[in-house]
Amino acid sequence: MSAFLPLLNKRAIVTGGSRGIGAAIVRKVAEQGAKVAFTYSASPDAAQSLVDELTASGSTVVTLQADSADPAALQAAIRQAVDRLGGLDILANNAGTLAHALLDNFTQADFDRTIAINVRAPFFAMQEAGRHMQSGGRIINVSSNVAVSAAVPGASVYGLSKSALTAMTRSLAHEFAPRGITVNAIQPGPTATDMTAGMEDYIIGRVPAGRMAHASEPAALVAYLAGPDAGFINGAALTIDGAMTA
Ligand SMILES: NC(=O)c1ccc[n+]([C@@H]2O[C@H](COP(=O)([O-])OP(=O)(O)OC[C@H]3O[C@@H](n4cnc5c(N)ncnc54)[C@H](OP(=O)(O)O)[C@@H]3O)[C@@H](O)[C@H]2O)c1
Repeated sequence: MSAFLPLLNKRAIVTGGSRGIGAAIVRKVAEQGAKVAFTYSASPDAAQSLVDELTASGSTVVTLQADSADPAALQAAIRQAVDRLGGLDILANNAGTLAHALLDNFTQADFDRTIAINVRAPFFAMQEAGRHMQSGGRIINVSSNVAVSAAVPGASVYGLSKSALTAMTRSLAHEFAPRGITVNAIQPGPTATDMTAGMEDYIIGRVPAGRMAHASEPAALVAYLAGPDAGFINGAALTIDGAMTA
């Protein structure tokens, strides 16, 4: 474990921690000393191998299977995590889905599922987390730079879901600030994960930095926002996209 431990003994929940940016957030906050619970839905093997990796290096990590499309299951998972970790200091709403299709081909089922996972789930996760957090609590929502600028055709519903998440973040910061709790969003640009697999050639040409982000880069921003130096950052939406939307 690293000697840099700004999150020592903090208790964190990460939604969708089995793969991609979520797994990187789990790693980063665990490395910085937090005890972590994370949810997953369809990837139990990936979840278990992350637990094995982190427990081998001395971290406390708990997994909970909960489909973010089911708000009651997600809230129950958060209550279970609070019980098992002994409280809650940090919530990272990371689980998300991307259904990519042009207007004519976009189905109502994909529309509803996108809103359920990308918008409704973080809302009800924040509702439940807010019941357990004390002053000093931190909520970080993983939005996207598509909330700033539409980069690709076919992402209109994804874009509306992330714009909604960023807007919700700003509004809820006002509700949580008097309690000493911050609510911020990060807005990553293209990041190398399963979500963007196969789209690299198309995407990289649109990023001035000439590359995609490594999942550890947005994860480090989440850890910073969760940490002791970020207490006056509240209601912010921090874009991390290699100048793509600058
Ligand atoms: N990759 C990018 O370029 C990029 C850019 C900006 C923002 N983002 C956002 O970053 C977040 C993570 O994206 P990613 O690229 O890491 O995606 P990913 O590689 O597809 O991984 C998605 C993660 O979310 C979990 N998840 C998906 N649906 C879920 C559900 N219904 N219930 C519970 N967990 C669920 C998955 O777990 P299971 O497999 O166990 O279901 C997995 O751990 C998302 O909110 C995404 O919108 C990504």
